[in-house]
Amino acid sequence: MEQQTIQFSFKCQASCSQTKARAGVFVTPHGLVETPKFMPVGTLATVKTLTPAQLETAGAQMVLANTYHLHLQPGEGIVNQAGGLHRFMGWKGPMLTDSGGFQVFSLSKIRTISEEGVTFRSPRDGRMINLTPERSIEIQNTLGADVIMAFDECPPYPAERSEVEAATERTYRWLKRCIDAHARPTEQALFGIVQGGVYLDLRRAAAESLVSLDLPGYAIGGVSVGEPAELIHEIVDATAPYLPVDKPRYLMGVGTYREMVRAIAAGVDLFDCVIPTRLGRHGAALVQGERWNLKNARFREDFTPLDATCPCYGCQNFTRAYLNHLVRCKEVLGFMLLSLHNVTELIRFTQHIREAILSDRFTTEFAHWLNRETGQP
Ligand code: GUN
Ligand code: ZN
Repeated sequence: MEQQTIQFSFKCQASCSQTKARAGVFVTPHGLVETPKFMPVGTLATVKTLTPAQLETAGAQMVLANTYHLHLQPGEGIVNQAGGLHRFMGWKGPMLTDSGGFQVFSLSKIRTISEEGVTFRSPRDGRMINLTPERSIEIQNTLGADVIMAFDECPPYPAERSEVEAATERTYRWLKRCIDAHARPTEQALFGIVQGGVYLDLRRAAAESLVSLDLPGYAIGGVSVGEPAELIHEIVDATAPYLPVDKPRYLMGVGTYREMVRAIAAGVDLFDCVIPTRLGRHGAALVQGERWNLKNARFREDFTPLDATCPCYGCQNFTRAYLNHLVRCKEVLGFMLLSLHNVTELIRFTQHIREAILSDRFTTEFAHWLNRETGQP
């Protein structure tokens, strides 16, 4: 227990005087995460097309990987032989693994869910795989990320209240099994995940019951599953107040400008999303709050940088015309440069918010995002 307080801590450095936004420092065994912060997604132990050196330059502090994908390929045994996830992928900073539950629900067609866990057919070789709270934690203990996530049941949207209530209660029972199965609590912080769908009273109840288990951090899950964006804000506003102020709060799978700003205003600290790398691989860029398709003919003779204010290697060395050319020719470099830019952009966006909170200028500098109702990336 003593060691845990040394290896993990969360300190709030400044709070916004008009919202619940806060700037903090989350300390992990592999370094600091200054919050609020966007975390790039490296599902298969790689943030697609980017090297750890590029991620570091982009300002990344914590990187994600996924239990479901790594269990299927190459298997946690190989990662273990490499000396753990950090050594395997060459990322020295803080890491987080998701539990795999969400991915089973969203990616596997053939699956059965029971109180024990989830059984599904491997999309890789067709064999049947069992994932339970115990198994997910065992795999995550082997992978060795700094933060590991509870194995949860994420109900679909839309879903009947009774269905969501059952999934939320099961998620709580599974969380207790995760805590019991966790073999490395001093080295790895286990975060609980609040479910409850769009039913705000279920969200509150789920948050309160999770908090009674005194975990080192809490996530809000089950959002961005097809519900209108406005509901994400309602869910976050109804959940965050019931999570402890002295622990990090992580909104899972959210990484658009407006949703992050609104969630930060409600007191959320951490975000992840595949959007920046996925857009990059599709030839699209996030530029100062907008989404641009670099294939567009308007960039053909545009010899200015993608974003003159961006410090990324792409914006410093190439033009929109060159990116347009690369993307039209499906050159790998084009997708890499756009991914690098997009990841840099979202991390920089959260850093700007952090600086604004530190000088108590959050609501004035980000009023545009806090108030705008529609149309954003
Ligand atoms: N990623 C995005 N949403 C979720 C969720 O609800 N649960 C888990 N485990 N991962 C997620
Ligand atoms: Zn850039």
